[in-house]
Amino acid sequence: MTRYVIVGAGAVGACLAVELGDRGHEVLLIARGATLEHLAAQPLSYHTHAGAREVRLPVAAIGDELNLRLGDILVLAVKTQDVAGAAAELAWRDVSDRRGGVLGPAAELVPIVTVQNGLDAERAAARWFDTVIGAVFMISAQYARVGEVRVGGYPAIGAAIAGVAAGDPGTGAQALKTFVADLRAANFGIEPVADVRAYKAAKILHSVRNGVEVLAGDRPVKQAVGDALTAEARRVLAAAGIEHRETGDLILDPDQESFSAGSGVQRDRQSTWQSFARGAGGHEADYLNGEIALLARLHGVDAPLNTRLQQLLGRAARRGGGLEQPGLELLVEQLPGD
Ligand SMILES: NC(=O)c1ccc[n+]([C@@H]2O[C@H](COP(=O)([O-])OP(=O)(O)OC[C@H]3O[C@@H](n4cnc5c(N)ncnc54)[C@H](OP(=O)(O)O)[C@@H]3O)[C@@H](O)[C@H]2O)c1
Repeated sequence: MTRYVIVGAGAVGACLAVELGDRGHEVLLIARGATLEHLAAQPLSYHTHAGAREVRLPVAAIGDELNLRLGDILVLAVKTQDVAGAAAELAWRDVSDRRGGVLGPAAELVPIVTVQNGLDAERAAARWFDTVIGAVFMISAQYARVGEVRVGGYPAIGAAIAGVAAGDPGTGAQALKTFVADLRAANFGIEPVADVRAYKAAKILHSVRNGVEVLAGDRPVKQAVGDALTAEARRVLAAAGIEHRETGDLILDPDQESFSAGSGVQRDRQSTWQSFARGAGGHEADYLNGEIALLARLHGVDAPLNTRLQQLLGRAARRGGGLEQPGLELLVEQLPGD
């Protein structure tokens, strides 16, 4: 069975490690900081529709002497801002055969899967890795407290779309087949596609709204701002000539979209909310709203809402993070008139 080396022991990474581990895969989870300290000493508290349980997970630090093997699949489950650093750190590690003989570097011999929202991760990983599998995850996974991960999907744990994003199509197709089969066996609804970038572009239309959850304000106002952020992102992708699927195409099966309140996952608390709630130093808005701002600048169009939200979140993070941040009215000012 394929061994999975999963970098990032947060919401997605820990969920994949537990679910693949349950199906008999060897997994190695690469963590850092407080998460590494916690998981090295204690089990993960893992909550799903099936209830809560404690799971011991093998963990290491990225700088440790990792023994990568031919046949491993690397999964980058860090946020986009950490993708390039993790890929660079792992690229030139030796990969060995069963007897320990060194065959060559990871960048050449091990496929890497990028699960990030946004459009940057596949390009970043392909700077080092020959074979990059892009994956779009629709999963309600929360990592708001160190040592505790909650996943809300029911009856499937989550849904995903995956495709070869870079590299030799033959090698990529083999890795994609393995990854899809292993995730299906682990209770994910997952479909392989030829144009994964168009699905990543569909997902960013949704993800640009996430940061609004961090701001103080009424839900209907946030909803209106979210709709306008998505509309603006759609215009910018068109100006940049980036094709996208519709967000409805991301739903693979209505059943897999159902949500179990029993997991303790609450809606409106997505990845950026979780970063601010944990007081984590980094958040992903620079690669979500910031991706739209970047594309707008490169293609000579405006993106005032996404640019302003990126700025609000960036400045809030500099002040130490936390929830109920001020500034929603600055976004309302930018809403297009009737
Ligand atoms: N959560 C969801 O439901 C969901 C759904 C779909 C897609 N996604 C996407 O999946 C990606 C991961 O999201 P997430 O919510 O799982 O993030 P997360 O909970 O913040 O987990 C990422 C983890 O990676 C760790 N990390 C970063 N660089 C590392 C390194 N070099 N070595 C070891 N650990 C490292 C982080 O540590 P620190 O805490 O120290 O930063 C953090 O614990 C994001 O791009 C997100 O947009 C998430």
